[in-house]
Amino acid sequence: MEGTTLAAKARIDQLVEEINRHNYQYYMLDNPTISDYDFDQLLQELIDLERQYPEYAMPDSPTQRVGGTVTKQFESAAHVYPMLSLGNTYSEEDLTDFDTRVRDLLGTSPEYVCELKYDGVAISLIYENGRLVRAVTRGDGTRGDVVTDNVKTIGTVPLRLTGDFPPFLEARGEIIMPFSSFEALNAERDEIGEQPFANPRNAASGSLKLQNSAEVAKRGLAFKLYYALGENLPENTHYGRLRMLHEWGFRFPDVMERVNGLQGVFDFIHHWDTERNQLPFPIDGIVIKINDFAQQQQVGSTAKSPRWAIAYKFKAERVSTALLGVDYQVGRTGVITPVANLAPVSLAGTVVKRATLNNRDFIREMGICEGDHLWVEKGGEIIPKIVGVDMDKRVAGALPIAFVTECPVCGAALRQNEDEAGIYCPNELHCAPQVKGRLEHFISRKAMNIDSLGEGKIDLLYSQGLVTTVADLYDLTYDRLFGIEKIVGDENGKVRTLSFKEKTTQNILNGLEQSKAVPFERVLYALGIRFVGEVTAKKLARHFKTIDTIANASKEELMEVEDVGERVAESIIDFFNNTENLSVVMRLRNAGLQFEAGETHQPTSDKLAGKSIIVSGVFTIPRDEMKRLIEQHGGKNVSSISKKTSFVLAGEKMGPDKRKKAESLGIPIISEDEFRQMIDE
Ligand code: IVH
Repeated sequence: MEGTTLAAKARIDQLVEEINRHNYQYYMLDNPTISDYDFDQLLQELIDLERQYPEYAMPDSPTQRVGGTVTKQFESAAHVYPMLSLGNTYSEEDLTDFDTRVRDLLGTSPEYVCELKYDGVAISLIYENGRLVRAVTRGDGTRGDVVTDNVKTIGTVPLRLTGDFPPFLEARGEIIMPFSSFEALNAERDEIGEQPFANPRNAASGSLKLQNSAEVAKRGLAFKLYYALGENLPENTHYGRLRMLHEWGFRFPDVMERVNGLQGVFDFIHHWDTERNQLPFPIDGIVIKINDFAQQQQVGSTAKSPRWAIAYKFKAERVSTALLGVDYQVGRTGVITPVANLAPVSLAGTVVKRATLNNRDFIREMGICEGDHLWVEKGGEIIPKIVGVDMDKRVAGALPIAFVTECPVCGAALRQNEDEAGIYCPNELHCAPQVKGRLEHFISRKAMNIDSLGEGKIDLLYSQGLVTTVADLYDLTYDRLFGIEKIVGDENGKVRTLSFKEKTTQNILNGLEQSKAVPFERVLYALGIRFVGEVTAKKLARHFKTIDTIANASKEELMEVEDVGERVAESIIDFFNNTENLSVVMRLRNAGLQFEAGETHQPTSDKLAGKSIIVSGVFTIPRDEMKRLIEQHGGKNVSSISKKTSFVLAGEKMGPDKRKKAESLGIPIISEDEFRQMIDE
């Protein structure tokens, strides 16, 4: 080996060791000892060195966390030990029966371990000589899919064990998606016009099956350990074994309790039935296991599930009530949502009168007929859900619900999105809720930010026939606005008059005037082109620079922009093919709005490069300026906290929820002063 190669190898080893130590501090102990920035520097150095000297890149290198491998099709592998499932119970009587059975078989009352039942995807992790060699999904219990590269990106999965580990170890647990990651993911999907995931479990499962592991790395998944297998493993209790695994580098379960007797089990269940709302990740029940292995063996297993453990699933309360009729709501984007009017019924503390029927496919799949009684359920979620038809109350000859074919607001013939279940009204330029929706979107904070106009005022201007397109806003004059009034009643029947006096009128006009300085990328977003969210608008504006080049771009040219796929490109083309839209754009341009990108401000430093930052609270300068500072130094502003967030920049009066979330994810909270030091201001 030459000198430099030797030195590179030594540095790689040193970096691996150091980064692993920091990962352990961060993911296992929730106690980072260096800043994210310094950590990223180390990681980048290792990535570069491994690229230069691939012969020294170990399969369990911490750079694997970043992902990058692409799997076309997942191989399948046989499980070393079959992956059993658990018997489910829903009542305390069932648990009493379980306990009686166990006591009869043992002749004594055992110590139980109570754990959370994580609501995610089961995974088996195989460690040979301390290295993670394979991660396999449950599959049919005997064979599953090999998803090793994807699982390696999950920070709470150790890639290499530490201490006195055995030559072979199988660790089992659940891969879950914390609520914060789930919300961030769905917000992102919403932005690019993708269907959101229905729940964190589906999101976790979908993420695990992604073909590009670099994408998985961004999903913010976590691993929750609940079981371990191997030959001649030390310790003779379940609790002790998980403690042992903790010694070898796994995170010990956040919640796990040893209890004696059934009462202890019930207490644990009652506590977590309500407290689960406070957890940052989803659970759907509690798992009860006999702690002692000898006793476990004595009790034994069936072919499908162990007799020494049982799952208690939280009950969702449900009632059946009469369907009185179906309303069809037209959303701001034209999508029709059917809503069930129900005979009022009391459920988990509130009276339920209405519940969404989601879309036409939902009604069809449930086979809902006129005059049916429907089952309504309220689980961990706050919103009541329709879960089925109460067939005992089905009237003979009942006809299936016929979905409306015309828009209930404007009468246009409804259409169906090809790739979605959604039925929508295509009359986007003239259907009232859609017109108002566009106006509201246009003035919203992230678009033109005209806060002197709000939903109520837009409603008024629209109902008076003063504004039907966003361009009309800029034709408003003092005389037209002054004195407009409308009598409005609120939900409680109270009546008040809304009228534009001198100050209101002037504020509106000022707001409109100021909006003429709003940069092109936000004007583009404000136009409300279907599927063009804030981020896409920014990318389009930076790529094409002017509205004319965008309007004249071909599908292929549009698709050259990052994040612009076929659907987005087609939507942009449709928008500019419409003469009414073109006329609106022309009028806005004549009014003086920005339709060309100004100077692309190059970051003044890259001190915050690669950082995702959340700004929360009140600062010595307006928050928007704070955000601009972040961008100027190469950082990225994000809106919801996830594991990927580098830090929270906290001003005065930061929201307590955000603080809690940041703390629970171990994300550093940085003050304005500290931030200014970071960027040397
Ligand atoms: S123990 C032989 N513990 O629930 C032991 N399972 O049907 C088997 N699960 O697919 C599992 N949290 O993925 C166990 N604390 C926990 C669990 C848990 C979630 C899942 C597991 C399995 C299903 C049980």
